[in-house]
Amino acid sequence: MFPETEMKACVFTEFGPPEVLHLADVPRPAPRDNELLIRIKATPINFGDLLVRNFKAKTPRQFHMPFLFWLIGKFSFGFRKPRVAILGSEFSGVIEEAGKDVKKFKKNDPVFGYCGARMGAYGEYLRMPEKGVCAIKPSPLTFEEAAAVPYGAIMALNILKKMNLKSTHRILINGASGGIGSSLVQLAHSHYGAHVTGVCGARGLEYVKSLGADKVMDYRKVDFLQNGETYDFVIDILGKVSFSRCRPSLGKQGKLLFVSFKTRQVFQMLWTSLFSAKKVVCVLVNEKAADLIQIKELIEKGDVRAILDRSFPLEQAAEAHRYAESGQKMGNVVITIK
Ligand SMILES: NC(=O)c1ccc[n+]([C@@H]2O[C@H](COP(=O)([O-])OP(=O)(O)OC[C@H]3O[C@@H](n4cnc5c(N)ncnc54)[C@H](OP(=O)(O)O)[C@@H]3O)[C@@H](O)[C@H]2O)c1
Repeated sequence: MFPETEMKACVFTEFGPPEVLHLADVPRPAPRDNELLIRIKATPINFGDLLVRNFKAKTPRQFHMPFLFWLIGKFSFGFRKPRVAILGSEFSGVIEEAGKDVKKFKKNDPVFGYCGARMGAYGEYLRMPEKGVCAIKPSPLTFEEAAAVPYGAIMALNILKKMNLKSTHRILINGASGGIGSSLVQLAHSHYGAHVTGVCGARGLEYVKSLGADKVMDYRKVDFLQNGETYDFVIDILGKVSFSRCRPSLGKQGKLLFVSFKTRQVFQMLWTSLFSAKKVVCVLVNEKAADLIQIKELIEKGDVRAILDRSFPLEQAAEAHRYAESGQKMGNVVITIK
């Protein structure tokens, strides 16, 4: 048994491979008057968890965003030693305690949410501001499923809203099997009714089709920019495409949206906004609680599903990370907490 003021968490004190993750007793967070204390049930392993666990090894060149973002990342996550001891930016759980000024939630409410770069969901308890990105868990989903939704779905919904996507549009998603791409495929197909082409590696093709893509392509086998087709939007999740190569594949007023980008693409965005009918857009998403509430409604309507690959107990977080990095997963790998 643990005293009331402690909890079990998966921590890391060195950057490195999955083995740096280990179980420890840490102080249990105490919520302020406007905060929630959430008893965590599940948390998925997403791109951010894998990145931050080994952030020391990431050079600015390997980092998918501009140098300034890398530098901010260094200050947030640490230069030599981790500054964030507990990973986990998405979660589902039950409200254990609501501060006295909290209005929207009460004890025992089932919730899901996104705590972003603050992280901390690889533990028994998490402190969240009432105004943070947290909402009542969608009723059709289990806790494991609900935990896997927020990051990808919030990013995808924001990107599609910025695009003002219509059912007549043709859209190509490069990186369609990952966290953001898989939500983009589902929402663009089910909610917006657009024609969706999904691009990913061979293992993901059937998966992306099952999410609703009309067409799928393997980026290792096909040069999707050379197949003679044009799109209203090309969304490049990892920033792999160049505007000059993509240009002929864009419709008359087509847009190339970079979810990951460097300073060069920011200049292209400025230049094309002034001098070109075809545009480059570098997307930055600012997550809000209202997005998550809309996503809950979309899940309840059947427009978004959560796809799980495997789950691991918190004690096996290192093994879960190893599996998530192995290239075998299809869908989400989730850590569960008893
Ligand atoms: N702009 C913003 O506000 C914002 C917010 C959050 C995250 N991000 C960025 O989003 C990125 C992470 O996205 P995510 O979580 O969806 O990542 P993820 O889950 O790791 O998925 C990556 C996807 O890219 C595919 N891929 C890998 N190599 C590729 C290649 N050479 N060509 C085309 N596709 C390739 C993968 O397919 P296979 O597995 O089949 O290879 C997979 O579908 C990061 O770079 C992060 O910086 C941006």
